[in-house]
Formats: sequence, structure tokens, C-alpha cells
Amino acid sequence: MIISCFFIVKTVALPGSPLIGQTLQSPPLLCERAPTQAEKTWLKLACCDQDSSEMISVFYTTCQWSYSIGYSLMNPFNLLCVMQTFGWKPDLLCCFLISWSFLEVTSSSLYNESFQAYAAGAVEAAVTSQLIYKHWMNTLMGYCGPFTSDIGYCERLKAFIGTNMQWVQKQIQKNPSSPYWYQVHLALLQLKGMEDSYNAELSFPTGQFSINPMGFLLFQLGGDLEDLESALNKSSQTRALGSGSCSALIKLLPNNKELLVSHDTWNTYQSMLRIMKKYTFAFKASPSEHNLLPGRTQAFSSYPGSIFSGDDFYILSSGLVTMETTIGNNNPALWKFVQPTGTVMEWLRNIVANRLASTGREWAEIFSKYNSGTYNNQWMIVDYNHFTPGKSNIKEGLFVVLEQIPGLVMFDDKTQELMKKGYWASYNIPYFVDIFNASGCNELVEKFGPWFSLDKNPRAQIFRRNQTDVTDVDSMLRLMRYNNYLEDPLSKCDGCNPAANGENAISARSDLNPANGTYPFGALKQRPHGGTDMKMTSYEMYRAYGMVAVSGPTFDQVPPFQWSSSPFKDLMHMGHPDIWNFKPINVTWTN
Ligand SMILES: *[C@@H]1O[C@H](CO)[C@@H](O)[C@H](O)[C@H]1NC(C)=O
Ligand SMILES: *[C@@H]1O[C@H](CO)[C@@H](O)[C@H](O)[C@H]1NC(C)=O
Ligand SMILES: *[C@@H]1O[C@H](CO)[C@@H](O)[C@H](O)[C@H]1NC(C)=O
Ligand SMILES: *[C@@H]1O[C@H](CO)[C@@H](O)[C@H](O)[C@H]1NC(C)=O
Ligand SMILES: *[C@@H]1O[C@H](CO)[C@@H](O)[C@H](O)[C@H]1NC(C)=O
Ligand SMILES: *[C@@H]1O[C@H](CO)[C@@H](O)[C@H](O)[C@H]1NC(C)=O
Repeated sequence: MIISCFFIVKTVALPGSPLIGQTLQSPPLLCERAPTQAEKTWLKLACCDQDSSEMISVFYTTCQWSYSIGYSLMNPFNLLCVMQTFGWKPDLLCCFLISWSFLEVTSSSLYNESFQAYAAGAVEAAVTSQLIYKHWMNTLMGYCGPFTSDIGYCERLKAFIGTNMQWVQKQIQKNPSSPYWYQVHLALLQLKGMEDSYNAELSFPTGQFSINPMGFLLFQLGGDLEDLESALNKSSQTRALGSGSCSALIKLLPNNKELLVSHDTWNTYQSMLRIMKKYTFAFKASPSEHNLLPGRTQAFSSYPGSIFSGDDFYILSSGLVTMETTIGNNNPALWKFVQPTGTVMEWLRNIVANRLASTGREWAEIFSKYNSGTYNNQWMIVDYNHFTPGKSNIKEGLFVVLEQIPGLVMFDDKTQELMKKGYWASYNIPYFVDIFNASGCNELVEKFGPWFSLDKNPRAQIFRRNQTDVTDVDSMLRLMRYNNYLEDPLSKCDGCNPAANGENAISARSDLNPANGTYPFGALKQRPHGGTDMKMTSYEMYRAYGMVAVSGPTFDQVPPFQWSSSPFKDLMHMGHPDIWNFKPINVTWTN
């Protein structure tokens, strides 16, 4: 039995502990030996008895799984359970809530690839089922559930997904030697394995198989749904007009000594049960290939029940780091390009491009195929193979930008612009003029002003002003967590009362906007929405799939988000800590 070693910076004591609600600084914990007296004293303080028998049995299951099919798995909960091992039977000492859960799934080339894929999904669900359950309750339970108010939309959605899945399955059958469709097939098998395992209905499909359109597929379709709601005429849309959906910054440090790549997810606060994942699959591009995939290993910030990032932020074995911020589409005339046949949903195109591409340009070419027009994003692909610290005359290949809207994908190598400006900032506004114009952004600027423009958007200005402050990892982290909306003149909103707005910052806190304020459009209102994390990697860190990561809304210049004292305390947030005040962690992996 292997139990990982952890260094917990800050944990929150759980129900049952005498220190409930307080945050504690922990000593480093090494679980492969018995804890020292000092550690024991500390552990006792935060200890809880809840779920302990269950935790032990789940850990046993994990290990049996891992030995029988060649997988290794680590720390699958957002509860860190510390065990003492004397002989064979581990004794549970204590469980802690941690900011990120960690999951590493490694498959073995001793097994055929279809089986690796299915089992990877099965084993992930087996060890994260509690998180999956909670995350479903928090984020998807009401979506097209029995009490939905929009039955018409739900039926159109179900039919759309069903037709699309049938078309995709047909391509898989028709193109057995195509690397593209082979990878789509493996991704769907992994999803199938995850859902079957969760439902305790494991049965490896040997031929064609179906995927429940309203099951775990919805965990993958989160971003695609934002646009499907518009394309399929949902009466009330989930996305507020102008709603920020992520901030990203790529920054060359002075003298080009480092290249930092970082991303803040902006999402609903109900989505904050998080898993940092690392998948290492022994897959080839297609059955007839001999070499393993360029992107066979992927480290990414993710969620329970999701087999991709969704944020998106990936470090890949190809040397690529890929991420995006959402640009959306505000031109209703383009929704006709969103069709269930001839298209592959964004989450799958993302997985396939991450696996097959060796360069930024290849990534863009693969991703562009079968454009679904859903989850319309600005993608940034950094290729660290083209970076050399100190070198200033890098001409191309280091950085590619891609933008997708329904009916149109554009991409270009932006290495020279990055080298010249020293940074690239991304904040939900299209960069390419054709995309900007075609997706209805001019109309938004006309109606609501320069907030919607590439140059004058508050984050464009904050990034421009503050990027020169970034000289190392710590100052980059401060900028990515920056939200001084009460005092920063760039956070002011014309036409809002009050003028200071928590949305107008690098890491938004829309929960802090007063409910009784007046706001010109939805994004600026009080919402349970904002920056929910931060991830950053660098030339120094990426090779080991390392990152610095923070979970939860920023609290650098503002009070931490607390469910119980917020206007949103009645929203479902199972498994969350009450106060979100976790410190940054250095993400490292066991293999
Ligand atoms: C892969 O392995 C599984 C389980 O052993 C088996 O059922 C399946 O037929 C194999 N598939 C191929 C293509 O060999
Ligand atoms: C959505 O509404 C528009 C305008 O009324 C209509 O043209 C379009 O066909 C509708 N789409 C669907 C999928 O119902
Ligand atoms: C985009 O729209 C602006 C404003 O209407 C216009 O001036 C410009 O020529 C357009 N550019 C392209 C490439 O369509
Ligand atoms: C951003 O710039 C403002 C104005 O110069 C400064 O007050 C603030 O501290 C800077 N923030 C960060 C995170 O660099
Ligand atoms: C909003 O409510 C707060 C107190 O709840 C009050 O102090 C403030 O004046 C109100 N603002 C407006 C614009 O009504
Ligand atoms: C993360 O790593 C950096 C650089 O190696 C180190 O300075 C910092 O203390 C580490 N932080 C944590 C929380 O371990």
C-alpha cells in the first residue's frame, strides 16, 4: 500500500474537530512513516471521526484496483486522510479538507488501448465517486432535471446531443485508421468507463456503445452548453451578458530569462470542488502507429467527473502548454452554424488536439476541424520547445493564438508580438478583427461602450499598466490574484451605482457587488461568480508538470469568500469549506 507524502500549507478543520472553521498551519506530513509526536499533537487538534471507516474501505478498493489492472492512484479526495501503518492494516488518524484533490492515473502498455481508456475512467470514478456525487449536486442536479422550467429546450438539447453522438460514432466506425477518430473513440471509452463504474455497471464494450446524453457527458459539455443554450433557444440563459470567463497572462520576464504562463478560471462559486489531475496513458496515435502520442501525459486543473480541464489549463508531454479564455458569440445570425452533424463538441476537439499535436500550429489545425461553434474561446498555445532563457530573437513557433466562433476559426503565430510586447493578456474579448466583428462585438461597444473593446476593457488596461510589475513568480501571482476594486480607478464602471465593481479586476469577485446597485448589464451585477482559482507554470516548472496553484476566490485586497455570511448561503455547496482562504501550493506529482 502506498500513501503519498504531502505538505499541507493550510487546512480547515472539519466537523467534529474542536477547531471547526479555523485554519491551521501544518507541519510537513510524511505518511509513509508513523507521525512524530509533534505531528500527532497537531493532527489530534484537527481530527475528525466522520467517514473514517468509509475512507479506509475506499482506500482498500483503490489499491486492489490499482494492482489488478496496472494503475496507480493517489489521494483521490479533497479529504486528505492520514494513516498510520503497523503491519498490513492502516489505521486512520485523521482527515483534512484540502484546497485541491490530486489524482494521478497511469495506464500500462501491457493492456490494449481500449481497455486502458475504459479502465482509466472506471478507476477514476471508483476513487472519486463521493466528489463526483457532490459536484453533480452542486452544479448539475437542476439542469434539465425533473423540475426544469424549460422542457422544450431540454428536449431539443437531448435530441441534439443524441444526433451528434450518433454521427461521431459513425465516423469512428468508418475511419478505423484515422488518428483523429481513434482518439475520439478512446476519450468516449474513458467517459463510458467512468459512468459505468459510478453506476456499478462495469461492462467493457467490445463493439459500438452509447453514451447517456444527460449523464456524465454533461460534466464534459459545461462550456459547450453555454452556446447550445443560445443556439437551441433556451428561455433563460445561464451566462450573464458580458460575463467574464477567465483571465490569462503570458509574461516574458526581464531579459527573457523566464516565460511564465498563467490562468485564472472565472466560474460559479458552486463549481469549486477541484481535482488536479495527471493522466499518463500509453496510447499511440492510431492502432497502426508505433510511437506513443506526443501528448500522452497531461497535467491539468479539473473537476470531479471531468476527463479534461474545462478551465482550460494543460501542461503536456509534447512541451505545449495550452489554455483559453471564453469569447462567446453575440451575433444571433451565426447560431445556424451550430449543427449536430459534421461537428465535434469542443471538449473532444480539445482532448484530441492536446494528444496529437507536437507544435502550436499542429494543435490549431487539429482543433479547427469539425468546428462545433460551441464553447467559443481564444486559445493560447505556448511551445516551450521553442523557448531558451535569455534568447531574444525567437521568430516563430513559440506562441500561437486561435479563436473560434460558429462558422469560423482563425489562428496565427504570435511569437513576434509576444517577444516585442513582452506579454500577452487574454480577458474574454476577441483579438482577431474578423472574429471581433463577426461575433457582434461592435454592436456591444455601440450599445454599452468601450468596456467591450479590446483596448479599453478594464482588464486590458490593468494588465497593460501592471504587467511591468511582474519580475518573478511571486509578483506574477500577485497580479493574477489582483482585485483592488474599491480603490483602483480602472475598476470603476461608468453607469454603475456604486461605481466600484468587483467584476472589473484580474480575478473577479462579483459576490461583493451590492444587490441593490444599478448596473448596465448582467456581468456587473451581484452574482455567485468570479475568479475561482489561479494556475501558473514556467520554463523551470513545466518539465516536471509543476505549477503554482491557488484554489478559491482571491482575498488579497478583499475579504475571503465565506458561504455562511454571503448572500448565496442557500446555494448548494456540498463538500466545500465555509471560508475560502487557501494559500498557494506548489503542485508536484508522485511519478
Ligand atoms: C482489449 O482487451 C479487452 C479486455 O481484455 C478485450 O475484451 C478486447 O477484445 C481487447 N480489444 C482488442 C482490440 O484487442
Ligand atoms: C431559435 O429561434 C430562432 C428565431 O426565432 C429560429 O430561427 C430558430 O430556428 C430556433 N432554433 C431552434 C433550434 O429552435
Ligand atoms: C470591423 O468593424 C469596424 C467597425 O465597424 C470596421 O471599421 C472595420 O473595417 C471592420 N474590419 C473588418 C476586417 O471587417
Ligand atoms: C497595479 O498597479 C497599481 C497602480 O500602479 C498598484 O497600486 C498595484 O499595487 C499594482 N498591483 C499589482 C498586483 O501589481
Ligand atoms: C443599498 O443597501 C445598503 C444597505 O443594505 C444601503 O446602505 C445603500 O444605501 C443602498 N444603496 C442603494 C443605491 O439603494
Ligand atoms: C514553492 O516553491 C518555491 C520555489 O521553489 C518556494 O520558494 C516556495 O516556498 C514553495 N511554496 C510552498 C508553499 O511550498
